[in-house]
Amino acid sequence: MSLFATKSLTQIMDESEGGEHSLRRTLGPLQLIALGIGAIIGAGLFVRTAAAIAERAGASVTLAFAVAGIGCAFAGLCYAEFASLIPLAGSAYTYSYATMGELVAWIIGWDLTLEYAVGAATVAIAWSEYFNKILEFFGMHVPFEWCHSPWEVEALAGGATGAHGMVNLPAIAILFLLSALLIRGTQESAFVNNIIVVTKVSIVLMVIAVGWGFMNPANHTPYIPAATTYTTPEGVTHPFGGIMGILGAAGVVFFAFIGFDAVSTAAQETINPKRDMPIGILGSLVVCTTLYILFSHVLSGVATVEDFRTAGKEASVAFAITKYMTGFGWLAKLVTVAILGGFSSVILVMLMGQSRVFFSMSRDGLVPPLFSEVHPRFKTPWKANILFFFVTAGFAGFIPGDIVGEMTSIGTLFAFILVCAGVWIMRRKRPDLVRGFTVPALPVVAVLGIAVCGAMIYGLGWTNWLRLVVWMAIGLVLYFGYGRKHSKLMLSSLGK
Ligand code: ALA
Repeated sequence: MSLFATKSLTQIMDESEGGEHSLRRTLGPLQLIALGIGAIIGAGLFVRTAAAIAERAGASVTLAFAVAGIGCAFAGLCYAEFASLIPLAGSAYTYSYATMGELVAWIIGWDLTLEYAVGAATVAIAWSEYFNKILEFFGMHVPFEWCHSPWEVEALAGGATGAHGMVNLPAIAILFLLSALLIRGTQESAFVNNIIVVTKVSIVLMVIAVGWGFMNPANHTPYIPAATTYTTPEGVTHPFGGIMGILGAAGVVFFAFIGFDAVSTAAQETINPKRDMPIGILGSLVVCTTLYILFSHVLSGVATVEDFRTAGKEASVAFAITKYMTGFGWLAKLVTVAILGGFSSVILVMLMGQSRVFFSMSRDGLVPPLFSEVHPRFKTPWKANILFFFVTAGFAGFIPGDIVGEMTSIGTLFAFILVCAGVWIMRRKRPDLVRGFTVPALPVVAVLGIAVCGAMIYGLGWTNWLRLVVWMAIGLVLYFGYGRKHSKLMLSSLGK
């Protein structure tokens, strides 16, 4: 069988109906937008924004958000067409199996693990930072070594260094709790998610409204810093300022947009996917882009680049409020508590997306059957949830947030590029199929999506390109070692 053999759409649709592996259809359009916002606003805004200001772009981080938002809008339109055409669990993986063949489908499925599993680990690490902030309010803290990876060293005043990290225990603990919640079922999780979404959006609006009056024009001058470089305490040098600074920052804050596509992974649990998927994906994207640009304008106006390079590196938003927004200490506390809830909802959706992708891959025989075993009572892929707890805990416990964050960004950008190409291929190959939603001016939108996402990959620099290549190489070994031999499509083509 050819590496590029595709699964027929009829075959995909037939498999989605009934059977012991089917998931419950319970979600409507508002729940989808909530699911999207639940997945979108999180560590990208409350942690990665400060990193982008400090290491890449200064105040021009707002332009970086605009670039990332534009790239996501193009890719989001393509996602929406795919999701309305193939309303099944598995997101970009399922779509590419129908369009570009098994090898590309595998590459995307494996790549989505970077987005969902490594992404969940990134947010768990951010959760750990703000968890420590809460403890500080009560005069306690987790010792540095128990809330940082072995690759991190405590930075003390005057350039001195302190304790070495060992393992990030709070990050592992939150992943454990949320994996357990997921095993109980989507219905309950969606309810918790709705409460968290309202809280999260309110907090973002409050910071924008209150912080607006505390902006210092000097922090916005010049708005785009002159092009130079910045070397992190770990010794990595990035372009800072200028166009390259903005592109690199766009790659970093792109993390803040990840999640709107996770909505499409819930297609199999959606009552009317053809109509509701595009609403869910694009609706959540528009709300979040607007909030991000305003929020990052305020954050970069309130505190200095130097703050975010030093004392305000961790739990940066709470830091900026406490240091500069006199009289609003209560807001710092409220934000910290809300952020912890907000991060939890992001982790939840990412863990769910991850298990759903492997659910689909397992039904196709590309990964072992245990990933598609559904719990008889809870109707969730519980064994996958347990396994991914261990995988995400490994990343969150032992790798620094900067590295997993940028790996997540680059992996997702790569997946988006393949989705843009896929929707275009599908239009040419099967123009006859009925689509609930069609991308306007398709070749233009797909090409722009590929170009903008490609520019962000370029901006992320060679260390991240290398990580992506190594990750993909591991994936190919697994595909040729297991997936290709067990692929149901392959076995059926051999008459087995
Ligand atoms: N967009 C999600 C976040 O910012 C992944 O945390």
